[in-house]
Amino acid sequence: MAKTFNAEILSNEEVAEKIFRLTVDAPELAEISRAGQFVQVKISDEFTLRRPLGIASTANGKIKIFYRSVGRGTEKLSARRAGENLNILGALGNGYTPRDGKILLVGGGMGLAPLLCAAEQFSADILIGGRTKDEVIFWQEEFRPHVEKISVTTDDGSYAKKGFVIDLLPEILSTRNYSAIYTCGPEIMMRGVAKFAAEKNLPCEVSFEKRMACGLGACLSCSIDTSDGRRKVCKDGPIFDARKVFDYAYDNQKN
Ligand SMILES: Cc1cc2nc3c(=O)[nH]c(=O)nc-3n(C[C@H](O)[C@H](O)[C@H](O)COP(=O)(O)OP(=O)(O)OC[C@H]3O[C@@H](n4cnc5c(N)ncnc54)[C@H](O)[C@@H]3O)c2cc1C
Ligand code: FES
Repeated sequence: MAKTFNAEILSNEEVAEKIFRLTVDAPELAEISRAGQFVQVKISDEFTLRRPLGIASTANGKIKIFYRSVGRGTEKLSARRAGENLNILGALGNGYTPRDGKILLVGGGMGLAPLLCAAEQFSADILIGGRTKDEVIFWQEEFRPHVEKISVTTDDGSYAKKGFVIDLLPEILSTRNYSAIYTCGPEIMMRGVAKFAAEKNLPCEVSFEKRMACGLGACLSCSIDTSDGRRKVCKDGPIFDARKVFDYAYDNQKN
């Protein structure tokens, strides 16, 4: 059951250009949150709509969030300071499915945030994709304590393998038997990942982003089409079975 919390900000620091790590003290919320779920943050009284942000960690009674400053709301959030209170609604959405075996997490950009929580809660390896060295180094440090194997690609080749996560995926999948792939990031990346998973007959769960208003399933602003009909990303998602949201995946299943 989602509730609102007035959580004290413990830190809110820039970890790469325009990317911030926000940590708040929220033991009750941390206790009920599952990997893949998100919160709606009240930026300030100037903003009617809350902003949805993924839960990246629930360790030690604290909620960690990573966000990119892309507009008015996130810019204002980046000015909030330790010691202030932040009003948070959560935990929202369904979350990734807990499952046995080793899970391969594949994330790009800010999509790595909910996967960090999955790495905390499940046995997993991580494939990190980012544009530049600066955008992947801090993720690597965040994931290190929680996973056995870390693989990294950068679009510009400034760190690790040059290219996209999709370029490394066949090699990674050939080295180990994973029980599933969980992915979050740009839709084009998730489609590519889901295609590989379908070919390997591996369960694949994807995290969807839609602009949201209520975040509670009441306003229909976040609906998407799935093979089960119209679904609300905020309530029925944000995590979906890839075969139900990407046409080719269930087209392949029918063949
Ligand atoms: C379930 C969910 C989880 C999310 N988790 C994270 C996260 O962990 N870290 C993070 O940095 N961002 C995350 N986002 C995106 C984040 O909510 C938006 O970037 C934020 O709301 C922008 O607010 P703003 O006021 O700064 O931008 P606005 O001024 O409202 O918009 C600025 C730009 O951001 C784009 N934008 C706004 N909302 C969204 C959205 N929902 N999805 C994609 N683009 C958007 C707009 O199209 C516009 O180009 C998530 C979104 C959803 C739906
Ligand atoms: S944001 Fe209102 S129904 Fe999803």
